[in-house]
Amino acid sequence: MTPRLPPKLTALAPLHSFALPYKAQNQLIFSSSAQLQQAAVQQGLFEQTHLVLGSGTNTIFSCDYDGTIIRLTNEQLSVSEDNDHYYLDVDAGYEWHKLVGWALDNNINGLENLAFIPGTVGAAPIQNIGAYGVQFEDFCEFVEYLDKTSLKINRLNKSELAFAYRHSIFKETLKDKCVITKVGLKLKKAWQPVLSYGGLAGLGENCQPREVFDKVINIRQSKLPDPAQLPNAGSFFKNPVVDNALAQQLVLAFADMPLYKVMGSQQQKLSAGWLIESCGLKGYHIGDIGIYHQHALILTNQNQNQNQNQNQNQNQNRNQDQNQSQNQDSGSQLLELIEHIRLTVYQRFGVMLQPEVRIMGKNQELTPYDE
Ligand code: EPU
Repeated sequence: MTPRLPPKLTALAPLHSFALPYKAQNQLIFSSSAQLQQAAVQQGLFEQTHLVLGSGTNTIFSCDYDGTIIRLTNEQLSVSEDNDHYYLDVDAGYEWHKLVGWALDNNINGLENLAFIPGTVGAAPIQNIGAYGVQFEDFCEFVEYLDKTSLKINRLNKSELAFAYRHSIFKETLKDKCVITKVGLKLKKAWQPVLSYGGLAGLGENCQPREVFDKVINIRQSKLPDPAQLPNAGSFFKNPVVDNALAQQLVLAFADMPLYKVMGSQQQKLSAGWLIESCGLKGYHIGDIGIYHQHALILTNQNQNQNQNQNQNQNQNRNQDQNQSQNQDSGSQLLELIEHIRLTVYQRFGVMLQPEVRIMGKNQELTPYDE
């Protein structure tokens, strides 16, 4: 057994966009996959309690973390091409939005619907990031990762990655078993805009990639709070996918409920934001943790002391019993709010919401929750 690293307490608030004020035992940063591999071989890095973190925009710490945070900050990018496609090999530590902008500046188009999604390239395949009618899998050619057991670098092609809505092999058989080191993207030279999402349709089929890029940024900025102003982790719950039969029953009972077809299946996707809002929960909060007043799918951390710049209006929200919130830390408030939302939505619609974000406990992940 490798001796435990001596603790060097690390503040977690700057390492995750929900910015809860907890601490980890240590943090180790590697600027190349070779460096990480070497430390794994020589120091038994993965034999100790650890968490691999990108830029922390989809992970929330609900208490102190009794382990080491590992970050890979490699940022190489290379391009090749054939007659019909560009091929991008991008290191895991590269910022996703920076990549989308870089591609556009170099006339490599297709990623613009995924503009302004926070996080690193290495995190993108894990939950198959998606927005405005496009998902990561549409462009993925391969993913490379360091296997934590064999300590070798492996490569999986797209067909081996088990992609689905906000899902991949990294959430099932490879969960916690590897560190993504590099991603391969394949982008068509013949660009076709994807304007299926309502807010983009007005651009028209003759629009330019940059117009799509600008519009997507515009929509996201108007709907989603900036984590630097009001800490949040983007969409908090997945949009539930249910069988056609249940979907039909629900629309009979709730005529204005939005439904989205899931291509090639007997299922439909519901809108978690709509379900939460219909329960009257928009703006509800427990202590510091609340449901964003403009979009019910976003939870925010409104702690005054942590967020000097936060939007003061958030404080107009309904509050839970003051005594209760004073006695509770924000991590417990978060866990309680999640349960409250899940139970309220379940009681009204018979559908159990599942967090899209990853929630960490003392030494292990708490998500996914039981259905
Ligand atoms: N809605 C409400 N009330 C709300 C929010 C939404 O009624 O408070 C309803 C509306 O009917 C709206 C529909 O929900 O038309 C869909 O809302 P929106 O277009 O904002 O999309 P979303 O389902 O909330 C998903 C992704 C987002 C992505 C957008 C756009 C998930 C969990 N979220 O959100 O991804 O940007 O679509 O494609 O799939 C993220 O993953 O962090 C993220 C932001």
